[in-house]
Amino acid sequence: MTILVTGGAGYIGSHTVVELLNEGHEVVILDNLSNASVTALSRVEQITQKSLTFYQGDVLNKAFLQKVFTDHPIHSVIHFAGLKAVGESVEQPLRYYENNVTGTLTLCEIMNEFNVKNLVFSSSATVYGDPASLPITEDFPTSATNPYGQSKLMVENILSDLYQADNTWNIARLRYFNPVGAHPSGLIGEDPNDIPNNLMPFISQVAVGKRDKLSVFGNDYNTHDGTGVRDYIHVVDLARGHLQALKKLNTNPGLVTYNLGTGQGYSVLEMIHAFELACQKPIPYQIASRRSGDIAACYAAPQKALTELNWQASHTLEDMVMSSWHWQSNNPNGYSD
Ligand code: NAD
Ligand code: UFG
Repeated sequence: MTILVTGGAGYIGSHTVVELLNEGHEVVILDNLSNASVTALSRVEQITQKSLTFYQGDVLNKAFLQKVFTDHPIHSVIHFAGLKAVGESVEQPLRYYENNVTGTLTLCEIMNEFNVKNLVFSSSATVYGDPASLPITEDFPTSATNPYGQSKLMVENILSDLYQADNTWNIARLRYFNPVGAHPSGLIGEDPNDIPNNLMPFISQVAVGKRDKLSVFGNDYNTHDGTGVRDYIHVVDLARGHLQALKKLNTNPGLVTYNLGTGQGYSVLEMIHAFELACQKPIPYQIASRRSGDIAACYAAPQKALTELNWQASHTLEDMVMSSWHWQSNNPNGYSD
C-alpha cells in the first residue's frame, strides 16, 4: 500500500516511516522542513535499506497536494505535519491555527477530491486538560488551555464532523502521551531547533554538555516526590501504534480514538535518575518554580488500544533513556553534525 506521511521528516514521522518501510509499504513523504532535516530521511533509508519518495512542500498548498495525489496511488494518510511548541503557540496563535487547523482542512479537502478517505491524525494527551482522575480513558472530557492544545481539539472536532457528514471516511485520532527515545540504531532521534521545551531532550543536552543544568519545574505537586508525573512512551512503540491504526482503518471502523501511552507514570526526578544510569554521569539540576500551564500528573489507560488495535508499548524506561543517550551522544548537534 502507498501511505502518504505528512511531516514524515520530523521526530515521530521519521520513526514511523522506518516501521512502514520495514512492513513493505510504499512511502511518500511530504514535509516543509520547518522543523526537520532532510538528513533524517537519508538516515531512514540507511536503516531500512529501502527507498522512499520525498516532496518538500506545505500541507497548506493545494496545488502541491493535488500533484502528490495525482502522482501516487495513495491509500491512506498519516498526518503528522504541525507545529507543536506550547509556549510559541501562545505567542503566535494565528500561525498555529493556520498551520495546524487550516493545514488539516486543506489536506482533508484534497483527500476528498481524490477519494482517499483513510486518515490517521496525530492528536495529543493535551486534549484532556487537567484530568479529574487517573488513569485517563478516551471518554474523559476534553479541554484546552493554550492555542496548540486548542488546535488539536479543533481538528479532532472537525474530523468528527467530517465523519458525521460522510461515513465513508475512516479516521483514527491518536492521542499521544509523552514520546521520548530514539531508534536503536542511533541514526534518528529528536533534534529540537532551539532550546528544548521538553524534558527528555533537555536532559540529553545537559548530559552531552550543551547545557549546564536542568531546571525542574516545581517540586511541590501532589505526586509521590513532588515533581510532575508523565506517561513517557518510546517513539518506536508509538510508531508501531500507527501501523496498527492503519490496519484498523482497513476494517472500516469509521471514527476511532485511542490513547497511545504505556499506562505508567514517571516523575521528573525518576527520569533524571534513569538518565544518569544510562549516561553514567550526574545530571546537574536545580528546583525552579512551576511552569505555567503544567499539570501535576498525566498517564493513560492504554487498554482500548490493546483490545481494539492489538497494540501495547513494550519498551521500558531503560530502553527510552538508553536510546535517547545513544542518539544524543552519537549526534551531539543533531542532524547538523
Ligand atoms: P516534529 O516537529 O518533529 O514533526 C512535525 C513535522 O511537520 C516537521 O518535520 C515539520 O517540518 C513538518 N511540518 C510542520 N508544518 C508543516 C506544514 N505546514 N507542511 C508540511 N510540513 C510541516 O514533531 P513531532 O514530535 O514529530 O510531532 C508530530 C505530530 O505529533 C505533531 O502534529 C505534533 O503536534 C503531534 N504530537 C507530538 C507530541 C510530542 O511531544 N512530540 C505529543 C503529542 C502530539
Ligand atoms: N519539565 C521540567 N524541566 C524542563 C522541561 C520539563 O521539569 O526543562 C517537566 C515538566 O514540568 C513536566 C515534565 O517535565 O512535569 C514533562 O514536560 P514536557 O515539556 O516534556 O512535556 P509535557 O507533558 O508538558 O507536554 C508534552 C508535549 C505536549 C503534549 C503533551 C502530551 O510538549 O505538546 O506532552 O502529549 F501535548
